[in-house]
Amino acid sequence: MRVPRYHHLLLGLLLAATPAALAQKTKIKVKKAAASAASALPQVSAADIEQRITALLGQMTLEEKIGQLNQYSGREVTGPASNRKNDLLNSIRAGQVGSMLNVKGVADTRLIQAEALKSRLKIPLLFSLDVIHGYQTVFPIPLGEAASWDLAAIRESAHVAAREAAASGIHWTFAPMVDVGRDPRWGRVMEGAGEDTYLGSQIARARVLGFQGEKLGGTDAIMACAKHFAAYGAAVAGREYNVVDVSEQQLWQVYLPPFKAAADAGVATFMNSFNTLNGIPATGSRYLQRDILKGQWQYPGFVVSDWGSIGEMVPWGYATDKADAARKALAAGSDMDMESDAYHTTLAQSVKDGKADQALLDDAVRRILRKKFELGLFDDPYRFSDEKREKQVLNDPQHRVAARDIARKSVVLLKNDNHALPLAQPRSIALIGPLAKAKRDLAGSWVVLADTAQITSVHEGLTKRAGKNTQVRYAKGCEVQGDSRAGFAAAVEAAKASDVVVLCVGETWDMSGEAKSRTDIGLPGVQTELFQVLKATGKPVVVILMAGRPLVFNQIADQADAILYGWWPGSEGGHALADVLFGDYNPAGKLPSTFPRSLGQVPISYQLYNTGRPVTKPGDIRYKSAYIDSPNTPRYAFGHGLSYTSFKYDGLKLSQPTMAAGQTVQLQCTVTNTGKVAGEEVVQLYLRDLVASVARPLKELKDFQKISLKPGETKTLTFTIDQDKLAFYNAKLEWVAEPGDFQLMIGSASDDIRLESKLTLQ
Ligand code: BGC
Repeated sequence: MRVPRYHHLLLGLLLAATPAALAQKTKIKVKKAAASAASALPQVSAADIEQRITALLGQMTLEEKIGQLNQYSGREVTGPASNRKNDLLNSIRAGQVGSMLNVKGVADTRLIQAEALKSRLKIPLLFSLDVIHGYQTVFPIPLGEAASWDLAAIRESAHVAAREAAASGIHWTFAPMVDVGRDPRWGRVMEGAGEDTYLGSQIARARVLGFQGEKLGGTDAIMACAKHFAAYGAAVAGREYNVVDVSEQQLWQVYLPPFKAAADAGVATFMNSFNTLNGIPATGSRYLQRDILKGQWQYPGFVVSDWGSIGEMVPWGYATDKADAARKALAAGSDMDMESDAYHTTLAQSVKDGKADQALLDDAVRRILRKKFELGLFDDPYRFSDEKREKQVLNDPQHRVAARDIARKSVVLLKNDNHALPLAQPRSIALIGPLAKAKRDLAGSWVVLADTAQITSVHEGLTKRAGKNTQVRYAKGCEVQGDSRAGFAAAVEAAKASDVVVLCVGETWDMSGEAKSRTDIGLPGVQTELFQVLKATGKPVVVILMAGRPLVFNQIADQADAILYGWWPGSEGGHALADVLFGDYNPAGKLPSTFPRSLGQVPISYQLYNTGRPVTKPGDIRYKSAYIDSPNTPRYAFGHGLSYTSFKYDGLKLSQPTMAAGQTVQLQCTVTNTGKVAGEEVVQLYLRDLVASVARPLKELKDFQKISLKPGETKTLTFTIDQDKLAFYNAKLEWVAEPGDFQLMIGSASDDIRLESKLTLQ
């Protein structure tokens, strides 16, 4: 791992913003340089850009065109090394490379850009990177952020990440990942927005706008990339890079909408995926890329392959060799070849032999050049590589404030028996567990500059907040993995001597993420046993779980006094969790994924079907759609998350019980904070189409509102129901709202419906 050049500048940087300062700033706003920076760009119309592209294309040789479609990695990080590493610079100078990934920082990007400008036509390179949840300031993992259901905060997080990356020479991030994930064995669930299509679509939009701003061109914005197109999250058995076999209906209903939402938000690029979809590798899928994306959706951006995925069509058994794979990928609509070296080494000959279509090649080049023009790189190839801005932006204290804000909002209070939380100022706390002092783990997978000195551990956050009057006794207890119980005795001793135990357990940072599928999603190692010996002391035990996926932890769920799910919370994780533990922040996170009782229930989602044999009475399961050894219900449902206060739902009003085609109706309700502290609530609207031309799920999320209420305060909420909310893909894949009855449900979670009504579509 390289140490960032500007490392020293950051030491001593405000590791903590006070809770008071945070409270004042409910809406964190990080400076937007977009307007001024964008206005520095000459105002060029889209038509002018097209003319300039046409002129440039006219000057390009076949090899130079193919060069624009070629992307290489600057170093080995996420995959096998390019065998062209040694002559990389020569290729760049010869105009044979259109983009580099994994080169970052002003100094390095300037250096490499200068090489590109030595090429005959001086076409600048695009610098790209996986800026997944922050650049230097690490934000919670995307699945954690999704638990905030706070679209403004999510957008802000992406904006800060873009601002830092753009100040560091980067033009383009490979994010957001908008794959719907319903199988927690799949390690990449950490990188997405969870299991739900509606929530995922809203978040996809927020992230795209956060990264890109309203329009590309500002130097505080970078191109986003909707990935992985498509249905990668449905990998069979949760095994990474595996086949996907989903019906057309599931594809359109569940997996495609977040991609459409990203396209509608103007996402500059798409990435295809490693999986096959019903037998065809996505990289070679004309159906996905040409018919749907570039055809039906009229998408104007470009598609990059996933790492080496063009070449991987050979081992898939879908192409005979690289040349065949390259032809198939180009024909299917993959514009840029990431690290397969297939376009570069074979396409020219295929075009000369008449086996690859020159017009498709030109179209791909045009799409890529268009983005370079829109970013202003032809006007100034070094626009994003300004040393002064890099120093300033990477040291902006507001970024840590934003990271703490969303880290707190991501925490989900799963359980809180007898008001175990918030901690009343205890005299002593036993802080125990392998993640209590962890730093690197809190940053999670996909970290760009994993400088652990910049991460706040729970120990740091908690001791700072606890102050002098509370004694904190630390004991590690055990490792995350492994079977040593040698540390148990010291942990028990610390627990016995203290008023309350705070236990930090979960996964290490490298247990979820790409290529991190697990067949066992239980809490690893002897962490559950550690919990049991601590619980046996009779002291209240508060458990903080940190992980990149929903885990199964039944004993803890049954016996802990309180449970916080912190995901991997990022740079400010320790402070954020301390804020929640002490009640400086009242948790409001809601699960974006169902937490199963056991692995046997996965894949799992709240979108269950009634079936022909529903279980109508608990326990009455004979010849019913049930398990004989487990209830169907999950451990924690989608949308679940408690608060330190309570909310009463009331006053349901539907503006009219029937709706004519094309009309809208209003559904109103009131929510009152009936507790003693202020709090936020995510009010969720679910819907069921009772009888339709295809069987529909028992519940589908259709809308939500996050509100903030003072003690005793009541707010009236209005949801507008239009035909789109009632629609679905029918057997002919038409998007239709069919006349009939709909059940409308408003609740605090998918399994906690508080108000119900019926609507009839005429
Ligand atoms: C991943 C992508 C990522 C790419 C570049 C691949 O292995 O699947 O999501 O953007 O590597 O790092």
